[in-house]
Amino acid sequence: MYAFVVFLRKMLAQDQTPLLDALKTDAECSQACFYTPGHKQGQGISQKIANVFGTAVFRADLPELRDTAAIQQAQELAARAFGAEKTWFLVNGSTCGIEAAILATCGPGDKIILPRNVHSAAIAGLILSGAVPIFVYPEYDFGLDIAHCIAADAVAAALSKHPDAKAVMVVYPTYYGVCGDLKAIARVTHQYDIPLLVDEAHGAHFAFHPELPAPALAAGADLTVQSAHKTLAAFTQASMLHVQGTRIDRDRLEKALQFLQSTSPSYLLLASLDAARQQMALYGKQLMSHALQLAQQARNQIGEIPGISVFDLTCKQQKSQVSPGFAALDKTRLTVDVSKLGLTGFRAAEILEQDFGVTAELASPRHLTFIISLGNTQKDIEKLVEAFTYLGQEKEELGVASLPCFWDNANKVGDCLAVSPREAFLAKTEILPLQQTPGRICAEIVCPYPPGIPVLMPGEVISKSRLEYLLCIQAMGGFISGCADASLKNLRVLQM
Ligand SMILES: Cc1ncc(COP(=O)(O)O)c(C=O)c1O
Repeated sequence: MYAFVVFLRKMLAQDQTPLLDALKTDAECSQACFYTPGHKQGQGISQKIANVFGTAVFRADLPELRDTAAIQQAQELAARAFGAEKTWFLVNGSTCGIEAAILATCGPGDKIILPRNVHSAAIAGLILSGAVPIFVYPEYDFGLDIAHCIAADAVAAALSKHPDAKAVMVVYPTYYGVCGDLKAIARVTHQYDIPLLVDEAHGAHFAFHPELPAPALAAGADLTVQSAHKTLAAFTQASMLHVQGTRIDRDRLEKALQFLQSTSPSYLLLASLDAARQQMALYGKQLMSHALQLAQQARNQIGEIPGISVFDLTCKQQKSQVSPGFAALDKTRLTVDVSKLGLTGFRAAEILEQDFGVTAELASPRHLTFIISLGNTQKDIEKLVEAFTYLGQEKEELGVASLPCFWDNANKVGDCLAVSPREAFLAKTEILPLQQTPGRICAEIVCPYPPGIPVLMPGEVISKSRLEYLLCIQAMGGFISGCADASLKNLRVLQM
């Protein structure tokens, strides 16, 4: 096996795209198809869909490749490009990678240390595995009204209280592009000889430019999951999971990934990962330089508009607010505070979209967050600046209600849940009017989306303050997901 890997390493260069090439060859081959998918390389598609997508994409939508080594070769190339020892291509987003990471490291009753502001994929991982979360509260910046990463000291405190934990999971970067001190967290975690798992969904581009934060693997992560579709040029749902070192049981991880993904993965998605890797390996620095330059231009120009401030580590007035959960910022992520204009982020997002055709990635009560990637152009930035210039002039004076904060926790290590997320998920439940639920145990994930960070999760005791927070987000125009009743009139709780 080792000799085979050495052989591959010697043979393949980063300008090659073995998977994309194999797919192209098979797509061009004319055959009478008696296998899936039913559209038979596009012969059976409706005219309507052909008019939208053309036929090329269906010709390449094949269930298998004749070159059976192509996937492994493509993953091997990706491992080298992203600095991993082994890489898996994922067709079910980082969601399945995060779930698999937890399943591969924790069993029923095992403890895992993770930030309270984890993505709902991690909660799903807890439900699937039966693991018990030990939550560490993120550093909260009240000035900016943004939750950052968890601090290494808080992880150390959690580990000394729970030395039997089986893994630590960290979100790096946050949705706002904020990165914690991952090196320090890796050091603390490895003192207990347990793996550091990283949700690097928003950081697939980090390895390709020195001005971006260090990639998680370089900072010492044992496993990291990246949504190549979020910041690189892969199709939506296409992600990668990278591993290094010996703390991860790779066979168990492989099995977990098999459980969580389709047995008929889309080769279109897989080939897009191969192409995205090649593009970044060859031109990543150049592409990221351009994205960084566009982001800086937007930062400078929008930051000068009265009443609008742009979230920036180097911003003088914000320096005092730099916290242990904020060691670096991904400058391609632009977060703009519109609250001083008397607007909520939700209302500002509406105006930008309806009047200027500018769509943000994330709207929150005070902010709008934009992803600037290799796909953006100078024209996009000009439209963005024009839209904010308008907002700066046309203040709406709607007033921004102050939002109750649910991260305000003096103890950095959170209390345990009433029951594990898995027990809560499997328990008998009932639906109650919202007002009757404080004090009861929640049976569902309730989270504003985006960013997909649960405010309530299965197993957690429902507090009035969390409900107020959710209602406030909803009243401001935010969308609540995960729960059966998105209107929040009712909530599913455990039966007593
Ligand atoms: C922090 C974080 N982790 C994980 C995910 C899930 O990633 P994917 O959409 O690739 O499944 C998201 C998605 O928004 C996310 O924001």
